[in-house]
Amino acid sequence: MRNAAVLGVETSCDETAVAIYDGARGLLAHVLHSQAALHARYGGVVPELAARDHVGRIYALAQEALRRAALEPHQLAGVAYTAGPGLAGALLVGGAFAAGYAAALDRPLVAVHHMEGHLLAPMLEEHRPEFPFVALLVSGGHTLLVEVAGLGHYRILGETLDDAVGEAFDKVAKALGLPYPGGPHLARLAESGRVGPFRFARPMTDRPGLDFSFSGLKTAVLTALPRVKSEQDRADLARAFEEAAVETLAIKCERALDETGLNRLVVAGGVGANRRLRAELDRRVRARNGALYFPRAEFCTDNAAMIACAGWARLAEARPPTSAIEVRARWPLDDLRPPAT
Ligand code: KG4
Ligand code: ZN
Repeated sequence: MRNAAVLGVETSCDETAVAIYDGARGLLAHVLHSQAALHARYGGVVPELAARDHVGRIYALAQEALRRAALEPHQLAGVAYTAGPGLAGALLVGGAFAAGYAAALDRPLVAVHHMEGHLLAPMLEEHRPEFPFVALLVSGGHTLLVEVAGLGHYRILGETLDDAVGEAFDKVAKALGLPYPGGPHLARLAESGRVGPFRFARPMTDRPGLDFSFSGLKTAVLTALPRVKSEQDRADLARAFEEAAVETLAIKCERALDETGLNRLVVAGGVGANRRLRAELDRRVRARNGALYFPRAEFCTDNAAMIACAGWARLAEARPPTSAIEVRARWPLDDLRPPAT
């Protein structure tokens, strides 16, 4: 089973992606089309447009992934797809494609949890973590601290009570007039910001517990907006927001390491691409002689490499494809169990 190539499909939001992962040879190919330009004029993802665009691109991307991996379809051992959480219509496109492809090839089908994909993305790198570890999963839809004892052994330590941190980045960016998706644009603007002119509280760090709340921080930033009179003010505000968000995440990560007694920290999900977050976590984890792991930036944001990898890890529980396509727009991570062997 180890040297089995799995084709992974990701269509949970606005990226159409296909990758091929082989247990023995690693990642053989990954291709991705971002719909960012399609949704930019609406300032956010339009679910119906996302689903339609996935339909038009998925087959050609799969062909391209096979070409780059120098594989024939019959050499695949299985097909994996993101079954949730995500936009229902978008998920159905990837699910229908994967099920049809698996049926045509007479190969088993694996339904992958998108956040388990993010969680396993550091396994695609040379510097990869051993179990157990604490994971910080930070994306547009999730802010989770998870104790990971092994594949499928997940204990949620903390989560956001309102906005996800990526959502807060995107909303603040939009208010500052930055293009969609705002997170990376805000981070770039913050680079020229100064420390001092604005300062925001680090939400929920002054009381015990590992939950997060970012909607108050977002509101505090929006309330300060009228004080922005120049380009420099904009950058200063972006910097103050980013620092508050990053420090809040970092404080909770350290607390999670303290509470679990673990010293390995994994950070993944779109916001994991944020440089200030990486540097801050690196500094804190180093100071306590721990180890920090994160995927390269392109595997922090949505991609199919992580889905192919998670699909390969769960190949033992793959099932023959059926015409009933299984997707779950909402799907708690701790519903998952270790793979059946
Ligand atoms: O994991 P992801 O690609 O999609 C979801 O599953 O949500 O995460 C997307 C989120 C968006 O909110 C985006 O603005 C944010 O990740 N993001 C960033 C950066 N790159 C992406 N946020 C802050 N700094 C970045 N460099
Ligand atoms: Zn994601």
